[in-house]
Amino acid sequence: MTDPLAISLGPLRLRNPILVASGTFGSGEEAQRSLDLHELGGVVTKSVTRERRRGNPPPRIHETASGMLNSIGIMNPGLDGFLEHHLEAFRALPCARIVNVAGESSADFANLTESFGADPGIDGIELNVSCPNVSGGLDFGVDPKLLEPLVAEARRRTSKPLLVKLTPNVTDLAATARAAEAGGADILCLVNTYQGMAVDWRRRRPELGSPTGMGGLSGPAIKPLALAAVHKVRRAVRLPIVGIGGITDAEDVMEFLVAGASAVQVGTANFRGPETPLQIVRQLAELHTREKLGALSDWVGTLQVPRGRG
Ligand SMILES: Cc1cc2nc3c(=O)[nH]c(=O)nc-3n(C[C@H](O)[C@H](O)[C@H](O)COP(=O)(O)O)c2cc1C
Repeated sequence: MTDPLAISLGPLRLRNPILVASGTFGSGEEAQRSLDLHELGGVVTKSVTRERRRGNPPPRIHETASGMLNSIGIMNPGLDGFLEHHLEAFRALPCARIVNVAGESSADFANLTESFGADPGIDGIELNVSCPNVSGGLDFGVDPKLLEPLVAEARRRTSKPLLVKLTPNVTDLAATARAAEAGGADILCLVNTYQGMAVDWRRRRPELGSPTGMGGLSGPAIKPLALAAVHKVRRAVRLPIVGIGGITDAEDVMEFLVAGASAVQVGTANFRGPETPLQIVRQLAELHTREKLGALSDWVGTLQVPRGRG
């Protein structure tokens, strides 16, 4: 029997539309020990970089009203460390397995993509383009002129589904979305965290220890911003979208679907406990039965915005 929550996400077929977001679930191995990840749509790994990264100085996390600021700084064991210590367990996960990669140059992105590009145990590669590039210092995902060739180069290195995770810290998200589409992305994921800051005014210092004092805001605080981002991008491109930002329950999931996402990723909510995404899957199944939702794909992008007013 086909799963009533099953969905298509571009070339990917998922058991349900709930994935876990990069950086909030490790690579699923730990959760796998206590949870049945069969129930999950998919797992996205923490960003893998060419070299091992120790991350930013502490403090790296600061709680804010209905959100969380982090300046982890892509701490990860690097490509070799991931291949040696995590890949095997990751490949064995019983749901879609997506590796998230982050580079400091276009060549980094291409090479990292190639490293996983033909692995039969990997179902897709997500490019985290929200990182500063070495030559210019600006995030790749901020500049459509940098982004399109970067995606095109990665595209040449794999025939697997290529996901591009966009940063919302831009003036024109539709322009970067179009650049990723033109470069050959299969799926767009949005959003990554919003740049933010917390201040200890008595000490006259930022609360976070990163070199800029800034961090990325996530959690329920950003949900309305992320919904608006999904809605805008849905109108700008034809690619399927994965909605990310402040999702904590099945109602949130349906909001993202109606706004234009075909699937979602759950991030900060995982810090309540690794069982959270599975609880969301179960809630969605209940909601699906109770409200007779039918094919979830029929809900995608059905938002009706009154036009011609104001
Ligand atoms: C602690 C933490 C670490 C993160 N690390 C990464 C990362 O390595 N790569 C990435 O693409 N996104 C990373 N993110 C961003 C999330 O994947 C997600 O896009 C963002 O948090 C918004 O979703 P949320 O509000 O559900 O958390 C991280 C987020 C948090 C909170």
